[in-house]
Amino acid sequence: MSGGKRKKKEAASTAGGKRGEDVQERLKPVFGKFRGGEEELIPVLQAVQAELGFLPDEAMREIARFTRVPESRVYRVASFYAQFRFKPIGRRHILVCRGTACHVRGAPKVLEEIERLLNIREGETTEDMEYTLETVACIGACGLSPCLMIDRKVEGKLTTKKLEAIFKKDAGK
Ligand code: FES
Repeated sequence: MSGGKRKKKEAASTAGGKRGEDVQERLKPVFGKFRGGEEELIPVLQAVQAELGFLPDEAMREIARFTRVPESRVYRVASFYAQFRFKPIGRRHILVCRGTACHVRGAPKVLEEIERLLNIREGETTEDMEYTLETVACIGACGLSPCLMIDRKVEGKLTTKKLEAIFKKDAGK
């Protein structure tokens, strides 16, 4: 599918019995590595996210039960840390650098161009779940600015042409 035809993905998770059971099954071995105490809340959140890719409502309920922390607090704690996400992410994860060096060399244009190519906005995922587009402070490759990371690989000295080539190549995969 070409980038321009991609549509944004709005909804996150839908609650459902079957899905709840699936989550429970997948979390059994994850919880097996912990004792189930309140002090383990953050490591448990991290381990669950590593297993599921994000933290759906069903998992948050299970975490609350397992750690014996009220669900509202589990949400509060998870929301406090940027590392936790409540929506599934795409197969390919794009992080556009918005650090100073990249900013002065055109990061806002880069972001705009990717939004145009994928037809999504920052923070969204394409409907086909191929790409999630996010920004990040500095990816430590300032000499290559403006740059981005796609699946942890840095692409630097970005131009409109280069971006088109990157996403065209990806679309053909
Ligand atoms: S500012 Fe973009 S890599 Fe450092």
